[in-house]
Amino acid sequence: MNRILLIGGGGREDAIGRRIVDGGETLYCVSKNLNPSLARISRDYRVMDELSYEKIVQYAIEMKIDLMFVGPDPVLETPLVDLASKSGILVPSPSMAAARIETSKEYMRSFVERNGISGNIFSRIFTNGRDAAEFIRSSAMEFAIKPIGLTGGKGVRVMGVQINSREEAAAYAAEVAARDGKVLLEERISGEEFSLQVFSDGRNVSPMPLAQDYKRALEGDNGPNTGGMGSITGADHGLPFITPACRDSALSIIRSVVHHMNLEGNPFRGIMYGQFMQVDGTPKIVEINARFADPEGINVLYLLEENLPDILFRIAESSLGNYTRFLRKATTLKYIVPKGYGNSPQPGSLDIDLANMPEDLQIYYASVSGSPEKVQMTSSRALAVISRSDTIESASDRVEENLWRVKGNYYVRHDIGSREFIKAKLR
Ligand code: GLY
Repeated sequence: MNRILLIGGGGREDAIGRRIVDGGETLYCVSKNLNPSLARISRDYRVMDELSYEKIVQYAIEMKIDLMFVGPDPVLETPLVDLASKSGILVPSPSMAAARIETSKEYMRSFVERNGISGNIFSRIFTNGRDAAEFIRSSAMEFAIKPIGLTGGKGVRVMGVQINSREEAAAYAAEVAARDGKVLLEERISGEEFSLQVFSDGRNVSPMPLAQDYKRALEGDNGPNTGGMGSITGADHGLPFITPACRDSALSIIRSVVHHMNLEGNPFRGIMYGQFMQVDGTPKIVEINARFADPEGINVLYLLEENLPDILFRIAESSLGNYTRFLRKATTLKYIVPKGYGNSPQPGSLDIDLANMPEDLQIYYASVSGSPEKVQMTSSRALAVISRSDTIESASDRVEENLWRVKGNYYVRHDIGSREFIKAKLR
């Protein structure tokens, strides 16, 4: 049995960890929190700062780890992957240089532009807040105002969504530039967002089913942006409101990114996750990320028909191939969060009834502590309840039918995957 070290302790990592154990390998885990589910299935678990890369590599060497996999994005901004690879550990996660496709939006936009990759949108970097503010005031265009680096899904503000006036936009751009030394303005685009995750070994690309996540805290896509309140995938591996042609173009974009990164001598090994928006039937690049999405990674891992550790070894050894099998089922996932999540969370405890869990339902553990049957929430996401079924709507029904299993004071977006919600989107 191989020894696999997983970095991270959220819902996504719980899903990855379970697939590693299902694949017959021995799991080791390092994360900043003691995830009760990962703790139960790991041979050894170290609670430590996930950014302490030297300590993590030391631990990996001590434990004679064969392969290490990184879950969360902030870890990819450290030299952990490079250092572990140098120490002889196989790592199917991108190097620090390759992860810049996510960790620096400046790198991503200029990479896409210099390689003539389609799906790009107007963007401009400002180092001076006054210039950025002036540009916004004198333009007729609406903008998304973004920090260059990682934001945990919460630092981006869009005119007409979180920002109500041009003056407010100018002030926010100036604030970001003053704080970070730079600010990115991107043309505001509107349409359906979707996530396309792929495995990549640096040359070969193998796609996963399309997914859509819901970032707004409240039902009907209202309230503040969050890390993600839930997500869906369709049984045909597409989405009812994304055309097959748009999906194919998005995959061509991802293939082109991987190809050109390789040509530039910066090969991308790991999971690439493109966040796109369908605008007039074509995909526009919102972000390109260097990891499984959370929650969308949980949806696709629940459908994966192949052995995850085998895939991870093939990525690390550059022998992936172009096709991975996924079950032809739909999934709907809903995150259970503390009441007030996104504004003023009030974390309490939750009791979880795991008796006679149906085959088509799973509960994954995120930012909680305690035991699998009783957890204490933090201010972040707590439990991901996911079902797979023939349709997104029936998977949503199955999640709803099983919410009784979680008792406590929590909030969940019941609308995700519901008939009314999907119908409204199709309209
Ligand atoms: N689903 C949002 C993210 O993983 O960044």
